[in-house]
Amino acid sequence: MAVDPTRVLFVCLGNICRSPLAENVFRDLAERRGVAERFEVDSAGTSGYHDGDPPDARTSATARARGLHLTGRSRRLTPGDLARFDYVIAMDAENQAAIERLRAGAGGGAKVHRLREWDREADSLDVPDPYYGGTDGFERVHDLVARACAALLEDLLARESA
Ligand code: 4NP
Repeated sequence: MAVDPTRVLFVCLGNICRSPLAENVFRDLAERRGVAERFEVDSAGTSGYHDGDPPDARTSATARARGLHLTGRSRRLTPGDLARFDYVIAMDAENQAAIERLRAGAGGGAKVHRLREWDREADSLDVPDPYYGGTDGFERVHDLVARACAALLEDLLARESA
C-alpha cells in the first residue's frame, strides 16, 4: 500500500527567490537520498506580487552554477494550503506572521516553522531577502538554504520512522 507522503510547503514573500530555491533544493536532496516518493514539496508566496512568474533569474543562475535547475511558477499562499500541507516553512518572521494571520481566519493543522530553525550555524532565524541586493546575497542565501534543507530532510525522515 502506498504511504501518504509528508507534505512540505516553503513560503517567502514573492515566491521567486527563497522559497522556490528551498523547494527545489529539498526535492533534489530527497531524490539523491532515494526518498523522493515520501515527500510532496511545493512553494508559495504571501504577496502574489509575482503570480505566474518563473524563479528570479539571479536565483536560477546561482543554483545553475551549483548544478541545480530551478522549476516552478510563483503562486500565492491560500488558506487551503494550511489544511493540505503538514509543514509550512517560512523564510522569515514576516512570512511566518502572514501565515499565522491567514491561519487565524481559515484554520488548518499545518505545523508552521521557520527554515533556519534547522540551520545549526544560524546567526538569525531569517533567510534574508536577497531581492534588492547584489550577487553575494544570492550566494549566501543558497548556502544557508541548502544547509537548512539538508538538516530538515534528516529531521523529517527521523520523525517518520519514530
Ligand atoms: P522572495 O524575494 O520573497 O525570496 O521571492 C522577493 C521577491 C520579490 C519581492 C520581494 C522579495 N518584491 O518586492 O517584488
